Amino acid sequence: MIRFENVKKKFGDTIILNNISFNIEPGEFVVLIGPSGCGKTTTLKSINRLITPEEGKIFVNGQDISKVNPVKLRRKIGYVIQQIGLFPNMTIEQNIGLVPKRLKYAKSEIKKITKDLMEMVDMSYDEYAHKYPTELSGGQQQRIGVLRALAASPPIVLMDEPFGALDPMTRATLQEEIVKLQKKLKKTIVFVTHDMNEALDLADKIIFMEHGEIVQMASPDEMLANPANDLIRDFMRKSSATSDPLNLTAADFMRTNAISVYKKRSIRECTDLMARQHIDSLLIKNEDDTYAGIINIKDIKKHGKSSGTIGEITPYQNITSDITENAKDSFDKLYNSGDNYVVVLNDDKTIAGIISKTSMATAMADTLWGDMQ
Ligand SMILES: Nc1ncnc2c1ncn2[C@@H]1O[C@H](COP(=O)(O)OP(=O)(O)OP(=O)(O)O)[C@@H](O)[C@H]1O
Ligand SMILES: [Mg+2]
Repeated sequence: MIRFENVKKKFGDTIILNNISFNIEPGEFVVLIGPSGCGKTTTLKSINRLITPEEGKIFVNGQDISKVNPVKLRRKIGYVIQQIGLFPNMTIEQNIGLVPKRLKYAKSEIKKITKDLMEMVDMSYDEYAHKYPTELSGGQQQRIGVLRALAASPPIVLMDEPFGALDPMTRATLQEEIVKLQKKLKKTIVFVTHDMNEALDLADKIIFMEHGEIVQMASPDEMLANPANDLIRDFMRKSSATSDPLNLTAADFMRTNAISVYKKRSIRECTDLMARQHIDSLLIKNEDDTYAGIINIKDIKKHGKSSGTIGEITPYQNITSDITENAKDSFDKLYNSGDNYVVVLNDDKTIAGIISKTSMATAMADTLWGDMQ
């Protein structure tokens, strides 16, 4: 589908691509990875003739692209640049329809293409098609950028760090989507990243570049098992250190400043504390610091007496999470209970923190796990 034969590119006297050769099969998902400046973008742009190499040959579909009209060539190749580049004065529908319109599809067909594509990434056409890019979140805009590249149904799609600017949650969602889309639409994708996790997750084949040369070209499994040099090994090590959002735990999301009191504190002290802190419940601790439950201002009122200790009131046993519990499981618990927060406990049952519905966690959870409420 795409073949490089001894491709050489110079800028001035500097060699940017030094005898690059590789072959990409139809339907393959190939990831180009390597340090900044190694020539990934230059390689990508050579495929759609935004850059012309001095030496060597590039074939797309068996045709030497130096002999193909660049405009014609680019119609067969979708391109997602790093800054997505949606047109701010056009609606989402107009943005997606840009290429099909240029290819003179009928209006009704453009609408159908837009609708179908939006459905594939779970964005409701009625809700979003008529919005403008600024009315969408960064992740949603990125999704539209990807859809636009796919819209004219080109057999080849080039993507230059399409998810680079996104938070890990949104990135994970979009990675899943792009893999699904590729499988469904059977595209040949060349995808640039410098994130090894992303490469390992997405690629059928990884091409690792350094100083304009290919250091290793291998499947993710092969590269994991036998990295060709120290630089690749280093990329692998760094990537395994950064956490996969699906492996986040309760500890990554909890707030550690929850207010707690021992059972022996007087009720009066507790109500004063609640008034001062503008909170309507307190976490109660046993003498050995283990967690005992929650007491709400309503429980205190029901108790009727303002004398005595808070320990005389039976605390409410709300839901708790272990500190090592998967973040998604903690969120699920929270949303399936009527409680406003989950108390996160250390191994020894002391209080580590709380995860509340109103904390940032909600937004993060929404992105990754969809609407939960
Ligand atoms: N138009 C240009 N003129 C001169 N030098 C350029 C030009 N474009 C790129 N270069 C140089 O070519 C080299 C490779 O650039 P390229 O954009 O392909 O790197 P990259 O691997 O995509 O890096 P990054 O990860 O930072 O995006 C760099 O050293 C860059 O400075
Ligand atoms: Mg680049």
